[in-house]
Amino acid sequence: MVPNTNLSKYVPYELLLDINSKKLSKAGDIELDFAVRKLFDMKEVIYDQKWVNRQEKNFDLYYMYRDLTRTQDKEIFQENNVRFDVTVIPPQTLGSEFVKTAGHFHPDAKEGVGFPEVYELMFGEGIYLLQKDSIENNIIEIMIVKAKAGDQILIPPGYGHITINPSKTETLVMNNLVSSAFSSIYGSIKEKQGAAYLLLNNGSWIKNDQYTEEINILKREPEKIVNKPFYLSFIESPDKWIYLNEPWTKKNW
Ligand SMILES: [Fe+2]
Repeated sequence: MVPNTNLSKYVPYELLLDINSKKLSKAGDIELDFAVRKLFDMKEVIYDQKWVNRQEKNFDLYYMYRDLTRTQDKEIFQENNVRFDVTVIPPQTLGSEFVKTAGHFHPDAKEGVGFPEVYELMFGEGIYLLQKDSIENNIIEIMIVKAKAGDQILIPPGYGHITINPSKTETLVMNNLVSSAFSSIYGSIKEKQGAAYLLLNNGSWIKNDQYTEEINILKREPEKIVNKPFYLSFIESPDKWIYLNEPWTKKNW
């Protein structure tokens, strides 16, 4: 028997994480098709370049399961241009850093208002780093959100975002709701070798010296975006989520 972690309280189907393979092993009757992000795909954004250059073998960093929706729900997600994805990030260190996602920005949905995103942590712990690049004042704003299972995290328009798994033992599993109408922008974070602020695996934060701007760091708590799991909220009332595609309709971010 393969030991599984049950994540079914977040979705209306049986969702299991295989703790040996650190991949999803069941999602109802949905075919488990995933994309893998490997170390060499994100060589440029690793802080410890000496370590990354010593690596001869490529290996898996995390798994992305796109559109993990039941057949009966496909239409409601598609009609509303919303995707439900699950990401699995097993624990490991990359040189002197914890494993993290590559990080990206979203384009604008309308002039000056970017597409937002929401994350829900289903298992493990996560640190969400949100970064708003300076437009005119030469100050970069960083928001750090520490999350545990059940927490919901809002990525407001204009913020690039990176998820870090700060655990030495636990796999991080999270889902997101996001507009399906755009492609993410990876370029600027890649060019600057990561975010403006980096978390090392000894727990300390350091500034990325590729950035010359002043950095303003804020700590933010996860917030209750909805009082039930995202998937269930979405299929019950997709109208609540219109701001994912029309962010200008939401007044307070
Ligand atoms: Fe995103």
